[in-house]
Amino acid sequence: MTEPAKNLPPIGEVFNPHSPEYMLDPVSQCLALAERGALVWYEPWQAWMMTRMDDIMACWKTEPLSSDFYDWEFAPPRPPEEEWSNFERALIGHSLLADHDHHRLVRRVTAPAFSRNVVDKIQAKIEPEIRKLFEELGEPEEFDYIEKIAFHIPFISITRMVGIPEKYWPQIKQVIMTFTETWNPTISDEQRESARQDSNQAIDIIKEVIAERRSAPVQDDFLSTLLRIEVENEGFEEGDIITLILALIGAGADTTLVAQQWSVYALLKNNRDQIDKALATPESFTNAFCEINRWGVSSKMGFARYAPRDMEFMGEKLRKGVMVLMMPHLKDHDPSYFENPEQFDVERVFEPDALFGYGPRFCIGAALAKRQLYLTISELFKRFPNIELAEEPTRDDTDHNAVVFKRLMLKTNCSLSRPQS
Ligand code: HEM
Repeated sequence: MTEPAKNLPPIGEVFNPHSPEYMLDPVSQCLALAERGALVWYEPWQAWMMTRMDDIMACWKTEPLSSDFYDWEFAPPRPPEEEWSNFERALIGHSLLADHDHHRLVRRVTAPAFSRNVVDKIQAKIEPEIRKLFEELGEPEEFDYIEKIAFHIPFISITRMVGIPEKYWPQIKQVIMTFTETWNPTISDEQRESARQDSNQAIDIIKEVIAERRSAPVQDDFLSTLLRIEVENEGFEEGDIITLILALIGAGADTTLVAQQWSVYALLKNNRDQIDKALATPESFTNAFCEINRWGVSSKMGFARYAPRDMEFMGEKLRKGVMVLMMPHLKDHDPSYFENPEQFDVERVFEPDALFGYGPRFCIGAALAKRQLYLTISELFKRFPNIELAEEPTRDDTDHNAVVFKRLMLKTNCSLSRPQS
């Protein structure tokens, strides 16, 4: 049984990731939650929250809980198969999120499509596009990094990675960014429904792209690889391909957008020697990126799981369908976990490094995410060595799952780096 913390105000009064206070200071709220014990009941979200890293790692590794949104007690009822729209077909029928056995099959057969070698090839495709973005930007005195650069990067890399032809980009861009909202249990039903409609349109477009690719000669991209895998593996079908592409776009788009903003902000907000250390090599950037995330604490809700049946879990009785949130970010400023947590040190040692998850559901796009971030941030500092924050950015409370900025104005100081005539 988790020992209830004594003489503390109810957790609902001190922890609310959707509050303006959390926007400005997530750390004190995260520490207040972690102080309550290893598994804390959070009334406002009707959820248990896992606060300790050891328990979270074990849960990631052994998967005692379900990742299927439709197992949530408050999810809309799982409709019968004859009523499935595209969205249910992708999310229930062949889901990465659904039963563990099918998930393992999908991960196993698709692993070659995410190998280092493939990421190298994708890098070759996205590098010129990133340079082009900066060329289009030119040398302004000031610019909004989110609008001019960050916003475009996830879309560029994922469409190039998957192999979605350019003619579909405007259509798909409009409907794809909200995909992860379709299974966020902490937002309203209306918001989830609108995201679901967007996703249905996105699936129509993806189906068109697949049909077109089937009739066209094989190309060197992820979609062609998946179509080959489909032929070679029984049990892996078009629905899996659609789900995977949606998951790549969904899981890869907003995470990278958040990562872009925080990487630039953290590097400019701290000592400049950190920039050189962070960007020395792709490997040093990988470590720096863990520190950027730790220091910034941008996460709001962590990772959702659901009790698959009435069960005992960490000494508590869970009712079937109850939500359990894994909250690895609660440790990020805990002095008993990290020495001098307020200090930003890109050479800090992360053991374990679990920023991209762990175990069977470890992030598929981790290598791509790190590579695209490294390329973009390196290009930024190469072009503008004297760049600085033009203002302290205002935080945006409308994002469903992360603390982000409304805009990130940067001052390039280009004239300082031009040779004097
Ligand atoms: C900075 C960027 C990123 C971070 C911090 C991140 C982090 C994570 C984490 C922690 C998980 C595990 C979630 C859980 O256990 O519930 C995950 C899963 C996943 N990520 Fe990422 N991710 C990032 C970028 C990307 C990109 C760029 C892609 C695709 C191109 C991607 C695709 C996925 C997919 C498909 C899953 C689900 C894997 C599965 O269930 O087997 N992610 N990510």
